[in-house]
Formats: sequence, C-alpha cells, structure tokens
Amino acid sequence: MPKEDKEPPPPAVVATMAILRSAGLRDEAVKGMSPRQQDVPPARVRQIAGELLTDMVRKGDQGDLVEDFALPWAARVTCELLGLPDDAAAEITRWFPLFSIGPEADANLPDLWPRSLFRFGDWMGRLKPTGLLPRLIRLNGRSARPLSEQMMVEIGHMLAFSGLGNPAAFLATCGLVLARDRHLTERLQATPGLMPRLVEEIYRWAPLLGDSITRIATEDLDLGGTRIAAGELVLISTDAANHDPAVFPEPERIDPDRPACPHVRFGQGRHYCPAAALNKLQTEAALSALLDVMPGLRLATGASAVTWRQYHAVLMPVAVPVRW
Ligand code: HEM
Repeated sequence: MPKEDKEPPPPAVVATMAILRSAGLRDEAVKGMSPRQQDVPPARVRQIAGELLTDMVRKGDQGDLVEDFALPWAARVTCELLGLPDDAAAEITRWFPLFSIGPEADANLPDLWPRSLFRFGDWMGRLKPTGLLPRLIRLNGRSARPLSEQMMVEIGHMLAFSGLGNPAAFLATCGLVLARDRHLTERLQATPGLMPRLVEEIYRWAPLLGDSITRIATEDLDLGGTRIAAGELVLISTDAANHDPAVFPEPERIDPDRPACPHVRFGQGRHYCPAAALNKLQTEAALSALLDVMPGLRLATGASAVTWRQYHAVLMPVAVPVRW
C-alpha cells in the first residue's frame, strides 16, 4: 500500500470536476474552458502577448521569455478567463512555486498555499461581472446542492494555478524551441499554416509533467506486462509515453511533419484536461505575436545553458534568455 507521510492534496485539487458536477456546475465549467468561451477571445490573448513582448523590446535588446513573457501572459489570460480583478494578475504571476514538490514543497507550500488561498478569497468578493467564476457562482446560487463559499474559493484557486502553471511552462518551452532553431522559426514565418501542427508536435516533445500524474489501482491488474496489486500507487509519465519510439520514430526530433501525433499531453479518459483545445488556440495566438514582435528571435546563450526548475510538478526552464 502507498504510504503518505504528508497531508493528501485537498479534494478541490484532485476532484475538481467531480465536485463541480455534484452541484450541477460541470457543464458550465467545461464550456468556460473550451474554445467556445467568449471571456478572453484569441485576439485578446494575442494582444496581451503583444503588449508584454513590446515592453521587452522597449526595455533593451535582451530579455527572458519565462519571467517577462510566459508567466505574466498566462496569469493575465487566466484572470480574464475566470473574471478575477485586474490586480490579481501580478500576484498570480508569482504562484508557480505552488507546483513545488520535495524539499521545495517543504520550503514554499506551508506559507504560499494558505496565503494564496486567502488572497483568492478576497478576489472572489470582487469578481468582474463577466468570466467563468461569476457565472459559476450565479449558477451555484440556484443549485439544489450548492457548494459552500469556501469550496468555491478552493475550486477557483485550483483553476487559477492550473491556468498559470502548464500554460506558462508550455509557452516558455515553445519559445525555447523557436529561439534555438532559426531554421524552424524561418519555416514557420514563411508558412504560418504550419503553426497548428508545430504546436501539436511541441505538446508531444516538451517535458512538462514528469511522472506527476498519479493513480491508485482499485483492482489487481496487468499493465504492459507489469503486475499491479489493488491499492498500489502508479506514477504515470505522459512525457515518457510521448517519447515512445514505437509510436514516434526518433522521438527526440521535433518534426511537425509527422503523419500522426497521438500524444497524451492532456491525459486521457475521465480526467482529460477540459482546457486542452483552448490552450492550443491560446498558445498559437501568443506564438504568432512572438514571431511578429521578435522576428529575429534567437537564444542569448548556448542552448545547453538553459536549465530546468528542479522540484516542481510542472517542468519549466529557469529562464529562456533571448535576443530579437
Ligand atoms: C499546456 C496546458 C495544459 C496542460 C498540458 C494540461 C494538462 C492536464 C492533464 C495531463 C490533466 C489530466 C490529469 C490527470 O489525469 O490526473 C489535466 C486536467 C485538468 N486540467 Fe489541464 N492542462 C493544461 C491547461 C489547463 C488550463 C488552462 C486549465 C484551467 C484554466 C486546466 C484545468 C484542468 C482541470 C480542471 C483538470 C481536471 C480534469 C478532471 O479531473 O476531470 N488545464 N490537465
């Protein structure tokens, strides 16, 4: 049996959609995280990216795609998606340590987790009239089985840091891929129609979640020739699956021309990420702004000097220093 020596994660983090379903809010939540949502259209996502990049260019001839672009972009887009007050974005930009694990978790979470939840409680009291959270709160008020105010805060908090972590890490990684490979960037500039296939391929290639998807077997089973007993903890590496050479020949090569790209970046089955299609549109919008504002994008250091944050459940470079 798996042994837990720490508190298990809160229900709002591991059972978000099931909790929303129990109050009849799931469909609205899924719609609000899909390309059908109108709270932050692609043109607005692109505009936010353009503003951040233009600021970088104004400040000098070198900048960092993590701190100056990917993190504030994801925070601002998420605030508009959820309907959070404008002043929330600057704080959410600094919430990446919520994904800490191991020694970083011991150092960061005891302070940051309750502090960020407390801040979220304040923002929930001053939501904008439009956005996913105000709609969920209105629906919750009419629900036969409403969620408590505290549970709504915890769900909103979970959606906010989900909107920050993976999207920022993925955009930073896309920026790294383009900045270190002029040939690929020039091909994309000459053929903008390549963007959807390239983004799909970077979803496959990018190291993003390590083995941070977990399941506990509810029955004895054989999985790929390994015997797993009921109650055992299974760590799932979608990153490894996305590099399976039996499915993706030469998996380390970024190749937007692969005939098929059946990656599992967004999970599979019951917990499949509700924001998958939306994230793709938003990343494409941000990258098209990147190519427009920084047509000469290139790394300001050697590619091997780019290192990855240690001890985080979502993998992101420490910095992506670029020139343009
Ligand atoms: C690059 C962007 C993203 C990636 C790679 C990603 C990845 C994933 C993965 C792999 C899962 C499945 C976890 C599991 O099976 O245990 C998941 C679930 C989820 N994601 Fe995302 N995600 C992204 C963006 C987002 C965004 C922007 C939001 C919300 C604003 C979000 C909200 C959720 C929620 C609520 C679930 C739980 C679904 C459920 O349990 O039914 N994700 N995501």
